Amino acid sequence: MAKTKVAVIFGGRSNEHDISLISASNVIRNIDRTKYEVIPIGITKKGRWYFYPGDVDGIQSGEWETNTDNVPAAILPDPLYRGIATVNGDEINIIKVDVVFPVLHGKYGEDGTIQGLLDMAGIPYVGCGCFASAACMDKNFTHKVLEYHGIRMAKSHAIRASELDHLDEFCELAEKDLGYPIFVKPCSSGSSVGVNKANNTEELKNAIKLAFTHDRKVIVEECIKGRELEVAVLGGAKPFASEPGEIISCNDFYDYDAKYVLGATSLKIPADIPPEVSSKIRETAILAFRAIGCFGLSRVDFFLSDKGEVILNEINTMPGFTNISMYPMLMDNFGIPYSELLDKLITLAFERTPK
Ligand SMILES: Nc1ncnc2c1ncn2[C@@H]1O[C@H](COP(=O)(O)OP(=O)(O)O)[C@@H](O)[C@H]1O
Ligand SMILES: [Mg+2]
Repeated sequence: MAKTKVAVIFGGRSNEHDISLISASNVIRNIDRTKYEVIPIGITKKGRWYFYPGDVDGIQSGEWETNTDNVPAAILPDPLYRGIATVNGDEINIIKVDVVFPVLHGKYGEDGTIQGLLDMAGIPYVGCGCFASAACMDKNFTHKVLEYHGIRMAKSHAIRASELDHLDEFCELAEKDLGYPIFVKPCSSGSSVGVNKANNTEELKNAIKLAFTHDRKVIVEECIKGRELEVAVLGGAKPFASEPGEIISCNDFYDYDAKYVLGATSLKIPADIPPEVSSKIRETAILAFRAIGCFGLSRVDFFLSDKGEVILNEINTMPGFTNISMYPMLMDNFGIPYSELLDKLITLAFERTPK
């Protein structure tokens, strides 16, 4: 039987480019080669697309970008082709692909943009569709959709760049409604970039201004004191959730350094929590996954407050896929090893968009 051609897209224009390289390397290393043929497509930080014919080690190190055999590539939006065009001088070739695995995190990867392009091209792809990806990327819209469905999240308010001349009134409202400390975040960012905790009016204003350097909309939230728990959801029409895992951050909160620099943050899988709390978290994760229209996979992140409340923080539609990432580790703990997980994700892509 002919192998299924999987285009694995990696890199991308977001600030999570480097994480994507590690995630994609692991995906390529673990994919079942008896069933799948991998077509590696890299996107540089500037947004150049290349078909990369080199080996997988070059992806993780970033050396892929300077490979002299790279060929400029593009997805053709016309579903007639269902493929990736490579441009070699005057010659254009089309590599037919059966399915795309966009192993891209953050902007232009996890936000519905590439998903929209693939929808137009009629190519099946792994993960959530256009709307769910966009709704989970914008924390303000995630709040709106999930709160409408009765899911508890931190109390919040959002401000757009065009409303900055009302910053004083906005801060007054936030202080009155949320009380200090207040968490300030760009609405559409990831990896804790631009996230800060403010303890007074001056810090609040500065944190909002800083967050505006990353995005045109900023969200402020009440601070939830408690533990951070994450669940892996997998499936299509009937999704299921893993046991929760716990993030034990080495910093005051799970900021960029705690995630990637210090290396002292630990993951506890499964989390040491009572069974009824685990059930509540898993049920809420599935409810949220369905409410927002997720498909394939998502990692749903929660707080378990000191008062025992289960509070949803955010949904990541393309979570980290490195060997030490929470999503594949939670699935492994659930009895689905990495390569079987990839097989299931690709099968789900065909369930949504048949070949
Ligand atoms: N409302 C909140 N209360 C307490 N801690 C928070 C709150 N919001 C965010 N944090 C902390 O900041 C981290 C990053 O925020 P998060 O919303 O997950 O953004 P990102 O998309 O960048 O991961 C969280 O993992 C948590 O440690
Ligand atoms: Mg987060």
